Amino acid sequence: MSPSIRVSAPGKLMLLGEHAVVYGHPCIVTAVGQRLTATLTETEAPFLELTAPEVTIEGYRKPLADLGRGEIPKGAGFVELAVRNFRRRHPFSHGVKIETASEFSAQFGFGSSSASTVCVMKGLSELIGLNLPAREIFDLAYETVLDVQKKGSGFDVAAATFGGTLLFEKGGKVIEQLSVQSLPLIIGYTGIKADTVSLIDAVKRKAEKYPAIVEQIYGSIGQLIPDARSALERGDWRSLGELMDVNQGYLEVLGVSSAKLAMMIHAAREAGALGAKLSGAGKGDCMIAIAGTQQANVVKNAIAKAGGEVIDISVQVEGVRLET
Ligand code: MEV
Repeated sequence: MSPSIRVSAPGKLMLLGEHAVVYGHPCIVTAVGQRLTATLTETEAPFLELTAPEVTIEGYRKPLADLGRGEIPKGAGFVELAVRNFRRRHPFSHGVKIETASEFSAQFGFGSSSASTVCVMKGLSELIGLNLPAREIFDLAYETVLDVQKKGSGFDVAAATFGGTLLFEKGGKVIEQLSVQSLPLIIGYTGIKADTVSLIDAVKRKAEKYPAIVEQIYGSIGQLIPDARSALERGDWRSLGELMDVNQGYLEVLGVSSAKLAMMIHAAREAGALGAKLSGAGKGDCMIAIAGTQQANVVKNAIAKAGGEVIDISVQVEGVRLET
């Protein structure tokens, strides 16, 4: 029987610091319990074979020597370049068949592309018996994400690799595991897929037009992080909620909120949430709210009434791991 390895990595949610993190400021990201799984099987012929239903890829096949060249279907880019980049650093000559399965929709903005990239790095590392350390998995996966989308801080790659709740700076300059016991987080999905790359570009255009103003906003977002970290570690949900509300104000100024997000955020606050904001690139994907157990159901109902889909998640979950 051909050697086969199964690995899984968690999705992520940005808690505070999106956009500013692309310009060198810190952010806080948490991994979420829904996972993406990849099964990697060694094959004789030197081909990559890929099936990834969550991005509608079925039976894609390409010679290893051609990876990264010619036409690459949209959903296959991250895995294809991950295998190419891994082989450049750690050559192997047999083929590999990769099948992914996700517990979360690729539409949520939970980071399915980075989770699959991290799974490929970990899976190949185990398949050829290298057992690479997490930091090298992160570096290889971040390089791949930049190859595909040319921009991004890598916070999503860090969450998929290391799990937990992280203080993070671009490119992994800082990756610090925070000591968080619990996190009373409520998630509302807008039903709209955010286009991260074009939103980063839109904010960049604003920064080019109003450099002093936007720089100041980035700096102010960055300044929320030490207080937010301390609130998270103390379990001071009231302060964390207040800081999330302030962060949402800055994101409004950057122009990445939307009527739908604002409606869901205000509905959550009015129903008793201690704070609420968008999470990620903006204009769609998810909003997050902090609420005590007494308010949780009322807040969830209010988000649903405002047109959101409430998604149950768990936090403080493991990063990329081998599955038996
Ligand atoms: C997107 O989810 C968050 C951004 O900060 C981009 C990034 O950090 O890669 C907008």
